[in-house]
Amino acid sequence: MQKIAVIPGDGVGPEVVREALRVLELASEKHCLSLDYEEFPLGAGNYLSTGETVSGETLARLEEKDAILLGAMGDPRVKPGILEKGVLLRLRFHFDQFVNLRPVVLFEGVPCPLAGGKRAIDMRFIRENTEDFYVGLGSRVAEGVSRTEITLVREAYEAKFDIGIDLKGEDELAFQIGVLTRGGARRVVDYAFQAARDRGVPKVTSVDKANVLTEIYGLWREEVARASQEFGIESEFLYVDAVALHMVRNPERFKLLVTPNLFGDILTDLGAALQGGLGLAPSGNINPTGTSMFEPVHGSAPDIAGRGLANPVGAILSSALMLETLGLKEAASDIETAVADVLRSGEYRTPDIGGTTSTSEMGDAVVARLKR
Ligand code: NAD
Ligand code: IPM
Ligand code: MN
Repeated sequence: MQKIAVIPGDGVGPEVVREALRVLELASEKHCLSLDYEEFPLGAGNYLSTGETVSGETLARLEEKDAILLGAMGDPRVKPGILEKGVLLRLRFHFDQFVNLRPVVLFEGVPCPLAGGKRAIDMRFIRENTEDFYVGLGSRVAEGVSRTEITLVREAYEAKFDIGIDLKGEDELAFQIGVLTRGGARRVVDYAFQAARDRGVPKVTSVDKANVLTEIYGLWREEVARASQEFGIESEFLYVDAVALHMVRNPERFKLLVTPNLFGDILTDLGAALQGGLGLAPSGNINPTGTSMFEPVHGSAPDIAGRGLANPVGAILSSALMLETLGLKEAASDIETAVADVLRSGEYRTPDIGGTTSTSEMGDAVVARLKR
């Protein structure tokens, strides 16, 4: 039996997770899987009533699970960052989910916003998921001369920054520090080259901004060059701004990209747009030897929440990624095929992809296709 923690979360999170669970249940029946679900009510509601984002006790209970399925975090009633950092990033870091896998596939039957419409878009982002500018190191100083000490404590290392600031005539200064370790870069870069080898991809595209952020992405490049040589797989180095340009002009040129955390976040929303919209994009936060967490790329979408308008496909495909990672490959590809068939038929389209199908009707369509 595989134990799954379900965190529906905020906004459209519960709406799309509900459909993913219906699809999972049917796939389990069909493929004789035994999945056990436990729901964890983390998110805005829990935070507003308890003042806590995730308790130590909850983390301990999550540690007993084989995987986590999450909807979305973020709520207009809560200051930006509290839930996103307090729950989502907390979980990614706690479980050391150092790979953020984000496939970008344009399914047949889904309108692509690019000129020419029908495009062969099929690329995978392997995004570093625990370091870079996401480590949460920073501060603001608004008075005269000060000393600030900030510390990053990780299992593998500890970094203490002792920072002296003299504002002189300036009113205020805010800063944020990005961190990349050799080991942190190595493991995600190796994962990307291994994925290229497994999938028969001849070239890995490395994304960075080594022309400006020379320290952090200088180190990044060294690891990509090393892995390229060790794996005997070609690599190319592109700056993130150019990648954005090429993704719009010629997305077919990319097959597998490895990116630092922040650029990967930005480019995968662009990728989602290329594949028809944020509602379609899945992702996995992966620790290859630990507990992984699966969630759609999109957020809580408060602008459409509670109205049955959200596209559940990103969440459904995330649940397929979860099964695949758990080694349940047949059930995973059955779900993917069902989604592809439903989208190809053109009969079912949620509003984000130009139709009037509701969230639950889209779930119904995938379930019906799976039953066939
Ligand atoms: P968002 O992804 O929630 O929404 C961006 C746009 O995409 C909105 O117009 C929304 O309506 C649309 N959209 C999103 N999901 C959709 C779906 N399933 N179907 C159809 N349309 C969909 O991003 P945002 O508006 O920048 O952020 C809203 C909140 O979500 C914020 O609190 C943010 O921090 C949080 N957030 C969380 C995650 C996450 O949990 N992984 C990811 C991104 C943003
Ligand atoms: C995502 C989100 C998160 C990120 C935020 C909400 C912390 O945008 O999963 O893409 O930046 O990784
Ligand atoms: Mn994002």
